[in-house]
Amino acid sequence: MKQRCLLGLIAVSMAVPALAGKMPIVLDDKPAFIERLVERMTLQEKVGQLRLISIGADMPRERLAEELAAGNIGGTFNSVTRRDNRPLQDAALRSRLQIPIFFAYDVVHGHRTIFPIGLGLASTWDMQAVATAGRVSAIEASADGLDMTFAPMVDIARDPRWGRTSEGFGEDPYLVSEIARTMVQAYQGESLREPDSLMASVKHFALYGAVEGGRDYNVVDMSSLRMHQDYLPPYRAAIDAGAGAVMVALNTINGVPASANRWLLRDLLRDDWGFSGVTISDHGTISELLRHGVAADGREAAKLAIEAGLDMSMADSLYGQHLAELVQAGDVPMQVVDQAVREVLGAKYDLGLFHDPYRRIGQASEDPPEVNAESRLHRQAARDVARQSLVLLENRNAVLPLEKTGTVALVGPLADSHIDMLGSWSAGGVATQTVTLRQAMQHALGDQGRLIHARGANITDDAQMVEYLNFLNWDNPEVVQDPRPADEMIAEAVAAAVQADVIVAAVGESRGMSHESSSRTTLQIPASQQALLRALKETGKPLVLVLMNGRPLNLGWAQANADAILETWFSGTEGGHAIADVLFGDYNPSGKLPISFPRSVGQIPTYYNHPRLGRPFVEGNPGNYTSQYFEEKNGPLYPFGYGLSYTKFSLSAPQLSRASLARGESLDVSVTLKNVGEHEGATVVQLYISDLSASVVRPVKQLKAFRKIRLAAGEQRQVGFRIDENDLKFFNAQLQQVAEAGAFEVQVGLDSQAVQTQRFELR
Ligand code: NOJ
Repeated sequence: MKQRCLLGLIAVSMAVPALAGKMPIVLDDKPAFIERLVERMTLQEKVGQLRLISIGADMPRERLAEELAAGNIGGTFNSVTRRDNRPLQDAALRSRLQIPIFFAYDVVHGHRTIFPIGLGLASTWDMQAVATAGRVSAIEASADGLDMTFAPMVDIARDPRWGRTSEGFGEDPYLVSEIARTMVQAYQGESLREPDSLMASVKHFALYGAVEGGRDYNVVDMSSLRMHQDYLPPYRAAIDAGAGAVMVALNTINGVPASANRWLLRDLLRDDWGFSGVTISDHGTISELLRHGVAADGREAAKLAIEAGLDMSMADSLYGQHLAELVQAGDVPMQVVDQAVREVLGAKYDLGLFHDPYRRIGQASEDPPEVNAESRLHRQAARDVARQSLVLLENRNAVLPLEKTGTVALVGPLADSHIDMLGSWSAGGVATQTVTLRQAMQHALGDQGRLIHARGANITDDAQMVEYLNFLNWDNPEVVQDPRPADEMIAEAVAAAVQADVIVAAVGESRGMSHESSSRTTLQIPASQQALLRALKETGKPLVLVLMNGRPLNLGWAQANADAILETWFSGTEGGHAIADVLFGDYNPSGKLPISFPRSVGQIPTYYNHPRLGRPFVEGNPGNYTSQYFEEKNGPLYPFGYGLSYTKFSLSAPQLSRASLARGESLDVSVTLKNVGEHEGATVVQLYISDLSASVVRPVKQLKAFRKIRLAAGEQRQVGFRIDENDLKFFNAQLQQVAEAGAFEVQVGLDSQAVQTQRFELR
């Protein structure tokens, strides 16, 4: 196959005598190779390279083969097996210049093996765990013939009404940037050319997480200062880590849709950040320029997008319809199209597709007989990562861990729901291959203990909501209602509870409730489940909540009434085992929240790194005329960085190696962490910096470093951090990155609020 492509290119070069015989050399020289290819392309072939087509959605398969063979398509997405991809690549190689296509897919938190959703991965605060999820995803997806993933999704989210909060890594620029970098490196591996690497297309550029009111696809209006300080760093981190592609967001930014935003795609991304990869629109966003009302017709939309710097059009119609004519009419310079084509060809080159178009598709004789074979899964890795993603929010009277010898009443609509274990964007994950909590607890108890299961409630009794959630997943309705009356289901659960030593209630959201286009107006556990919880509480039995959800929920009732609360997000293929490991004490929970939990929807946005205020609310000394809501307690219910363990840790006050720091010097911060409890366990030492006075208003604190440490019972360790001028830099009013002289505070703690501080000066 390799030969076939090369021979084709040589044949073409032989038609141009000056180039005859030079192809092998040219192939090793990326810029020269691409230049010569672009020189040979017709305008129509160039436009073809800029079109990314969705398999199954954008055109019938027969037409797809024709269009590929005509050189009218640059890449496809949504076909996910070698067997499906091979004939498409065959068709592309029948085109005049035999330019291979690439295959992309949303491999967001796993491919065949599903890892916890983004919020869960972020809750590990463990870059090794994040890297494992990324690497396994790349290994599995590339083994299915895929070249690119539409990930990582690094949109900062401070409004949990937004359903896509689930996909991202939370609210903090530093933590999300660390994860962005780790994910890109894990997907792309040592070299993109390796057959087991995937090109990362970081998304959604930019600021998608800040849609107004948390309503999906809504506008984004934001000051430049806030953008640079809080929302842009994770995209930048992904790009600095070498992400080969950038997906351009669906939203507007200060009045200009991202897809037509020259400042975003040229000035910032290319000129300031030096990005040299390919930009790809999100699904159909170029045609949405009409609905945004910035283009009068499709022709103008195509012109705006290509001129703004949008190379590839996902689910394209408009580039195909208008670009060639726009160039012929002199309305779009050929150089603009040529540059976009170079980026697409460059990505293919980097992926090794010109060297071997079947690099990831392989030989038919080596295709896996069964793509979903058990042997293709990485269960142990999924279980290890999932265990680390669980966050213990409450544990009164050490109700957890549970004994394996007692009787457990396991109730709730999520206790045995395979599909919900997967979470949103579950790629090639198969629901029946997931382990539910019911299966895992049964397995863990064996014949020593007894498990009584009762569903207790439907996810919701709101028929309209069910219809909406099932419409989202039209091929296979996911929210399947138990037809029994709510009272009867609750009565069954209560009957189970009264026979048990402890109740474990698996409640929260169905996976579709935290998804694209699933914005909510409330963060409550749905009413049907609340009624179940209240009835269970009345039994007087210890009540353990296992939450499954893709956003912070309002947990006021739960906090006041449950004996233990374990936040499990949607924890993936091995989620059930991971949760059972924690419930029964086979794994000591170590997860920390990557996002604040507000007390009510009215408190949104609640995030720890808020800018300083002139009239801040002071806990315990509220007074009038301070920034607060007067009807309820202020501040988050559970803060960023928070999470309990079965053991207890003590942390000493930070010691600084110097009280005053000159530029070019560094300062060492040291704390002693001690496991003062009775179990081995891990926690995360978090270091925040607070800039006490500056030329612009600064956040009250910012995470600057963290370390996850595991200690045996009684063990202690000194933990060191080093700070220098770079850690003190921020964007000033002129958007220059500066560190200004003056006083700073180092804050160290095991969450963002309970911290101990020390001051120092930058001279
Ligand atoms: C739309 C989503 O916004 C994006 O995240 C995804 O990658 C594309 N569709 C492709 O599926």
